Amino acid sequence: MSERTVSALIVTVIALGALWTFRPVEQPVSQPGADRVRGAVPLSPDMVPLVTGDEPISAIFTRAGCPVCHRIPGIAGADGRVGPPLLLGTSGPERLRDPSYRGQAKTVHEYVVESVMEPGLFVVPGYPPNTMPTWYGAKLSALALEKIAVYLEEQREQGSRSSR
Ligand code: HEC
Repeated sequence: MSERTVSALIVTVIALGALWTFRPVEQPVSQPGADRVRGAVPLSPDMVPLVTGDEPISAIFTRAGCPVCHRIPGIAGADGRVGPPLLLGTSGPERLRDPSYRGQAKTVHEYVVESVMEPGLFVVPGYPPNTMPTWYGAKLSALALEKIAVYLEEQREQGSRSSR
């Protein structure tokens, strides 16, 4: 191969790479004026009421919209596949041990709270970033958040409580 052919090849590869990088990213149906919806699942703050924490645990999750994206044992209809299944009793300790974890949490309980309040701090490997809503701090009372953390830190991969 001549030097010219080689450089032509290199240029082609770079151009293809650039095309790939700047390919049009799939956008969810966006209505102008509506809150910006990120990721594939449209869930905007105005679809979520204030959750006080006085609701039954299933209503806390359901009103907040978590089941749209997460599988949660014991919560009817919580079979979302956008985010990881919420089995923090199993996955929580793994996250805290993950070398790329850079949050502040020392316990699984703290990790759950942190994940809901500041989802961008640690993105679970294999799942899309910028997808978990960032506005839950404005929608969940401290009590609701506490109950969520207490519930989720108990959920395990297997032998978890049955769905009722
Ligand atoms: C629009 C989709 C969506 C909604 C709604 C959503 N999440 Fe998530 N969540 C994700 C995605 C995607 C991830 C993984 C990426 C990341 O870490 O940000 C995630 C990660 C998490 C994690 C970390 C899980 C782990 O295995 O480390 C927790 C905890 C969590 N979400 C809790 C909740 C709770 C509680 C709610 C409701 C109050 C909720 N999420 C609502 C998409 C969502």
